[in-house]
Amino acid sequence: MTTKTVKIGICGLGTVGQGVIALLAEGGEVLSHRVGGSIELAHVATRTPRPEVDTMGAKDSRDVFAVAHDPDVEVLIELIGGTTVAKDLVIEALNHGKHVVTANKALLADYGEELFALAEERGVVLRFEAAVAGGIPVIEAVKTSLAGNHVTSVAGIINGTGNFILTEMAAKGREFSDVLAEAQALGYAEADPTFDVDGTDAAQKLVLLASLAFGARIDAGAPYKQGVDSVAPADIDYARELGYRIKHLGIAKREADALQLRVHPTLIPEAKAIAQVDGVLNAVMINASGVGELLLVGPGAGSRPTASAVMADVISVARSLAANEQPDIHSMGVSVNTLSQPAITDISEVSSAWYLRLDAEDKPGVMAAITQCLSHHGIGIESLIQKPESAALAKVPVILLTDEAPTRAIEQAIAEIEALPSVGGPVTCLRVENF
Ligand code: HSE
Repeated sequence: MTTKTVKIGICGLGTVGQGVIALLAEGGEVLSHRVGGSIELAHVATRTPRPEVDTMGAKDSRDVFAVAHDPDVEVLIELIGGTTVAKDLVIEALNHGKHVVTANKALLADYGEELFALAEERGVVLRFEAAVAGGIPVIEAVKTSLAGNHVTSVAGIINGTGNFILTEMAAKGREFSDVLAEAQALGYAEADPTFDVDGTDAAQKLVLLASLAFGARIDAGAPYKQGVDSVAPADIDYARELGYRIKHLGIAKREADALQLRVHPTLIPEAKAIAQVDGVLNAVMINASGVGELLLVGPGAGSRPTASAVMADVISVARSLAANEQPDIHSMGVSVNTLSQPAITDISEVSSAWYLRLDAEDKPGVMAAITQCLSHHGIGIESLIQKPESAALAKVPVILLTDEAPTRAIEQAIAEIEALPSVGGPVTCLRVENF
C-alpha cells in the first residue's frame, strides 16, 4: 500500500520556524506512523537568506507569497508575525485552498473572525495552538477536551517574558531592564518587547482563550490592560511578607449577562499552585462545570516548546489528509457565524481585594485618616503593615490589604488618600485574587 506524502511550507525561519524544522528532522518514523503517511518540507520562505538553517532540500524563496502560490504545498505554516504582510499571506493561502497553521496571536486577536470565516468558506483549516501559552496544548484542551463543560473562568500566566521578569526580580533582585534583555536573547520576547511589557501580548492571548471558552466574538481591545512594568521590587517583597506572590495574569470570567476580561499584575496567595509557576513557564487555570478546577502548566515561549504546538496542528491536519478525510474546518470548535457577542463588564464595576502601598508621616492620626478614606467608600481593611520609622525618611511605607471592593470605589478612596497632607506621592494599587 502506498502512503500519502503531505507537503508543507514554512514562512519565517526565526526562533519558532527553526524549532519546527528541528522537530520535523527529529520526527522520523514516529512522525510518519502518527500521520499515517509522511510529511515533507517542500518550501521555505524568509525575507533574508538563512544559510545556517538546514531546510532539508526544500525550495527556498525570499517571497513568502511564493509558498501560498506553490501548488505542491498543502499546509502553510505562518511564522512571520505581525498583522500586515501576515494577514495578506494567510488570506492568499486560504484563497488558494491551503490549510494554514499559525502562531500569530496578534493577527488572530485583530482579524480572527474574518480569517476563521474565510477558512470555513474555503473548506480549509486555520489552526493556532502555538498562539497561546507556547507549548501548553490549551487551545485543544478548551476546544475539544473540555467540550462537555460550561467554562466559568479562565485565569492564566500567559506571557512567558513577563513571568520570567517577575521571577528573576523576586528571586535575585535583578533589574527589570536587565532581565528583559535576557528574555530577548533567549527568544522569549516579541520582536518589539513593548507588547510583552504593557500587557498587549497577554491580552491578545486572553481574547483567543475567552472566545473559545465562551463561544464569543471578542474585540482585541476589549480586555482591560495593566503591564508587568507597574510592579516595583518593593511590591514583590511586601507581597511576600503578607503571604502572596505577584503574577501577571489574564483573567476571563463569565458573569450573568457579561464577560470580565482583564490583564494585570495580581497578588495570589502563595499556597495556590499557580503562585508557584516561575520563570518562562505559563499556567492556565480553568474552572468548568464538569471537571472543576484544572491547571495546565508548561513552557510558555521559546523555540522548541512553541514548535511543539505548531507541530500538533500540522500533524492533526496531515493525519486527516493522509487518510483522505476532510479536516475539521471550525477553528473555534463551532462555526464562527454562530459565536455570541456578550457585553464586556466595564473595569470600574469589577470587584477584587486590593493591595495598596503609600508613604505616610509616622504620627498620631495618620492611620485613622487613611482608613477613614477607605471606609467612606465601604472598603474594609484585611491587614496592614507600617514599616518602622527611619531617621533617613520623613515618611514611612504603609502597606494595606483591603476587602473586596469595585475598582471605582478604590479609585475614589485612593484620590482622597493622595490628597491627605500626611501622605506623600501616589498610592501604588494592585489587585488581589484569592481564587
Ligand atoms: N513573547 C511571548 C511570551 C512569546 O513571552 O510569552 C510566546 O507567545
